[in-house]
Amino acid sequence: MPRNPSTGVYSKPAGTTPSVGQVIDPAPWNALTTDLGNETTVSLPRDDSGACGRSGTNKPVIVPQIGDLLVPRWRGAKTTGSEAPFGAVDDHFILDCHLPPIQRRSSMLKRLVKQVLPSSAVAAVNNWRTRERLYKSWSKAAAAAPAYGDMRLTAFRIERSRRLIGEEKSYVQPPADLLPAMDIPAGRFVDFGGSAGEMCAVLREQYPAWSFTVVETKSMADAAQALRPEISFSDQLPPEFDVFYSSGTLQYLSDPETLWREALSRTTRYAYLARNSFSNRKLFTVQSSRLFDNGAGPVPDGFDNVEIRYPHQTISEASLTGIADEMGFDLAARFEGRNSGVTGTRADVYGADLLFKRR
Ligand SMILES: C[S@@+](CC[C@H](N)C(=O)[O-])C[C@H]1O[C@@H](n2cnc3c(N)ncnc32)[C@H](O)[C@@H]1O
Repeated sequence: MPRNPSTGVYSKPAGTTPSVGQVIDPAPWNALTTDLGNETTVSLPRDDSGACGRSGTNKPVIVPQIGDLLVPRWRGAKTTGSEAPFGAVDDHFILDCHLPPIQRRSSMLKRLVKQVLPSSAVAAVNNWRTRERLYKSWSKAAAAAPAYGDMRLTAFRIERSRRLIGEEKSYVQPPADLLPAMDIPAGRFVDFGGSAGEMCAVLREQYPAWSFTVVETKSMADAAQALRPEISFSDQLPPEFDVFYSSGTLQYLSDPETLWREALSRTTRYAYLARNSFSNRKLFTVQSSRLFDNGAGPVPDGFDNVEIRYPHQTISEASLTGIADEMGFDLAARFEGRNSGVTGTRADVYGADLLFKRR
């Protein structure tokens, strides 16, 4: 059963899917899950009676549910539930042992071919097989993963950010190319998707006469307000502002183009988009990360480095530039090769920072 080395997720994008909770014959399953060696896997939160995996015994295997965690357990040992998970069962999780014999033989053939192919060819095939899944629409991707406001993620990011108070500039730097946009003595700055206000805190030191508003998910805005009271937090755009800034955020919205249009209608001077995920093709995916990859600074105690998933979509650079033009903005500068907002494995996704100026 192939495991995606970066996400740890087991998936098998071929064959037929047995239904959740179905009891299946463990013998072929055990033969197929050879990569687990002497370990057994248990799907959590089920207990042993709901075990899925290479039991090495004739114990029936029960098909786990999407999202269940697969944890290692040595033969004969009891699971405590605190073992580090191999990964979660995703929506491709399909068991070969349920296949009719003819398909089972083809699966064996595939393994044989794998043994004789050069490792570069096997790697190429594996890359292709483990490429991220595309969804037909935002709503289909959103149905497969919760939106960004997940409480566990918010709680972690707030605790992490708490440790940075007063030291934000050691961890977060505003892009130097943004600063020419702050060319008036006092103005109103909006950071859309600005987390717990770390970047605004850095800018505020440099521009004390400016006011700063972070627009965030409701859970983030509510929690962050107590953390940095000198910055305003809201889940709504203010009626008017001088500079609109957004970094690595539009790609997580259900309708980024509408938000962009709305933001520009309220912007009097400049708009800067950083950490973009551009593509000429609309690609709807589910991004997967580890909890500790979210935010900056030392990791607070009391959290497990669990998998976090949220829906994601690419945006057409041309459509953003076109909307800006309609809204009375010129592209003042374009910075190539800014790729830190690019996620996933698709070659046609790229980044570039864009600075727009009202005509
Ligand atoms: C990848 S993070 C980027 C954080 C930061 N701007 C940066 O560049 O490092 C995406 C941010 O978008 C925020 N976000 C997601 N959906 C949002 C929404 N509907 N409205 C406002 N912020 C949102 C998330 O909470 C998160 O802070």
